[in-house]
Amino acid sequence: MEKTFLMVKPDGVQRNLIGEIMSRFERKGFKLAGAKLMPVPQGLAEEHYGEHKEKPFFGELVEFITSGPVFAMVWEGEDVIAAARQMMGATKPSEAAPGTIRGDFGMIVGKNVIHGSDSKESADREISLFFNDGELVDYQKDSLSWVY
Ligand code: PPS
Repeated sequence: MEKTFLMVKPDGVQRNLIGEIMSRFERKGFKLAGAKLMPVPQGLAEEHYGEHKEKPFFGELVEFITSGPVFAMVWEGEDVIAAARQMMGATKPSEAAPGTIRGDFGMIVGKNVIHGSDSKESADREISLFFNDGELVDYQKDSLSWVY
């Protein structure tokens, strides 16, 4: 099954949205493989957002993601990378559809509540940046026979 990396950003943690967000992915039928509340050190932030190094907002992005704890997660399931991006909504909350996480809870692009990998390549890279193999749990979930 495909895996993706999702992260409730510092604004989502401060606004008590961890439970709400996890609940959406749980109810959809995805399986949680790992999760932790953690600060993001400067080096990790710069590596995570490395592809945006030349963008004018890079400094702001790194400053924001290191400004408080994030809730890092790995979720597993059929087409979870694309489905999670849909559930998150557009990057700019003003363009995100109602019913999506950013559409329901976001207001501005600099504080858009959640990050999610945009491809299999980024998912693999981001999962290994934030999690050790031992932190990911492989287990059987019987309720999934009702999902698939
Ligand atoms: S781009 O230019 O299309 O590659 O950028 P995009 O993929 O839309 O966004 C990359 C990440 O930068 C965040 N972002 C911003 N942060 C602060 N200010 C501005 N103006 C801004 N524009 C984009 C955006 O939320 C993406 O972060 P993640 O964590 O992936 O959501």
